[in-house]
Amino acid sequence: MRDGTKVTRAGLPPVAQGEPILPGPTFASLYGFKGEPGTVPYTYGRYHNPTWTHFEDALGELEGGFAVAFSSGMAAVTAVLVSVLTAPGTGKVLAMPSDGYYTARMLADGYLRSLGTEIRKTPTGEKVPSKHLDGATLLWLETPSNPGLDVCDLAETIEEAKKRGVLVAVDNTTATPLGQQPLGLGADFSVSSDSKGLTGHSDLILGHVATKDKQLADQLRAFRTQQGAVPGPMEVWLAHRSLATLELRIQRQCANALKVAEYLTTRPEVRMVRYPGLSQDPSHPIASKQMRYYGPIVSFVLENQEKANLFLETCKLVIAATSFGGLHSTAERRARWGGDAIPPGFIRLSAGCEDPQDIIDDISQSLDSI
Ligand SMILES: Cc1ncc(COP(=O)(O)O)c(C=O)c1O
Repeated sequence: MRDGTKVTRAGLPPVAQGEPILPGPTFASLYGFKGEPGTVPYTYGRYHNPTWTHFEDALGELEGGFAVAFSSGMAAVTAVLVSVLTAPGTGKVLAMPSDGYYTARMLADGYLRSLGTEIRKTPTGEKVPSKHLDGATLLWLETPSNPGLDVCDLAETIEEAKKRGVLVAVDNTTATPLGQQPLGLGADFSVSSDSKGLTGHSDLILGHVATKDKQLADQLRAFRTQQGAVPGPMEVWLAHRSLATLELRIQRQCANALKVAEYLTTRPEVRMVRYPGLSQDPSHPIASKQMRYYGPIVSFVLENQEKANLFLETCKLVIAATSFGGLHSTAERRARWGGDAIPPGFIRLSAGCEDPQDIIDDISQSLDSI
């Protein structure tokens, strides 16, 4: 089946006479359970839930592996980093991007380092040096990186890691499984914040990890059960419902993002535009090899902090807000958070599903006014 069909059907149970196509959320902490564990599918709400099962089946189909849902993208990131780097008998060396999602870097630099993990960092746009891979336990990648939108060659980098027996995890949040398939390119884990484009309605916080290896999936499930960062059934059900329109949304958002990026390159006030889908973007040659959609995010730089703030204040349609991947176009001055090596006038814009001309008209009137 092709993507558009897959997303509308993924994870749905066989259609039964008189039953809903997508069963509603199951709100349950406990289930009727006589006898011994393993004899019934559901026992207690922290261990499993039928609504999770449908959603995880859907994600597994889209990712090409087994999926485990978490209460947030960071809970998914934490599950991989901590379960791999604290597993008995394995090493404690993490190679990761120096420009990936800030909170993941904070987790590594703070908590993981305090557990004795050695951390080696490379910018996403540069080849990971052999000396960073030699003796590493886990290689973490994020491509395109948030917010800089650099990319790394997944097939080539994963091959180098595999030669050395290093596990590889890819944060695939900005691309979604329709945009890029890390497991198909040889990664051990595909990790995602589902609070973004995967669900796309800006109404929930969720995450997941997918892997082809059943044993690794079981380890992640055990970690989730022990650590307790379980997703709520309502969020999971909403996420599954939203998944059905992923292809429609991503096609519109990516087409809009490209139009916005092209338009921004024509404006003299804009100092730099990054979008992996732009043919002149430094990321484009690699992105076009491994991505089917280039994502909704366009990054650009205005002269300074004041101009960037003014831009956000004068936009009428583009909403000043953090995060990305939603139906509504949003933008923020990313440097307000700190932690990323970006100029003060750096704007991260996420193209929504509005009419492209309306987005461009809004950006245009705002740039004119500043
Ligand atoms: C690339 C990336 N990974 C992970 C996360 C964490 O996701 P969540 O906010 O769902 O915990 C984010 C959130 O912004 C992100 O951008």
